[in-house]
Amino acid sequence: MIFVTRRAHFSAAHRLYNPNLSEEKNYELFDQCTNPHGHGHNYFIEVTIAGTPNPETGYVIDLKKLKKIINKHFIDKVDHKHLNIDVDFLNDIIPTAENIAIACWQQLQPHIHDGTLYSVKLFETENNFVEYRGE
Ligand code: NI
Repeated sequence: MIFVTRRAHFSAAHRLYNPNLSEEKNYELFDQCTNPHGHGHNYFIEVTIAGTPNPETGYVIDLKKLKKIINKHFIDKVDHKHLNIDVDFLNDIIPTAENIAIACWQQLQPHIHDGTLYSVKLFETENNFVEYRGE
């Protein structure tokens, strides 16, 4: 088994807010991250595919192909967007790093046909990142 990873970047705004809770409770949970008009991050994702090299190509997955899948099905939908408002697959969820990573997995997984999707890492800051490996 070998692991192949593609890194990608997007910039987006979000607000951490649970509409079922009071303003006070939201501030208690999310502090300044719940400010009404949101704030931005320069996010990075790392998408890792696991598999064995195809004997014909030597690739688990052609990284050019993986780049296109990531751009078409995730980056193009979130880059320079407000994640709470502009992104259909993030409607009704709190756009934490955890939930964005899970949503990214769900967007990409149906399109990976060479190797299998092994993990999605989402870096929200230099020091904070999450990793999702499916259910
Ligand atoms: Ni934030």
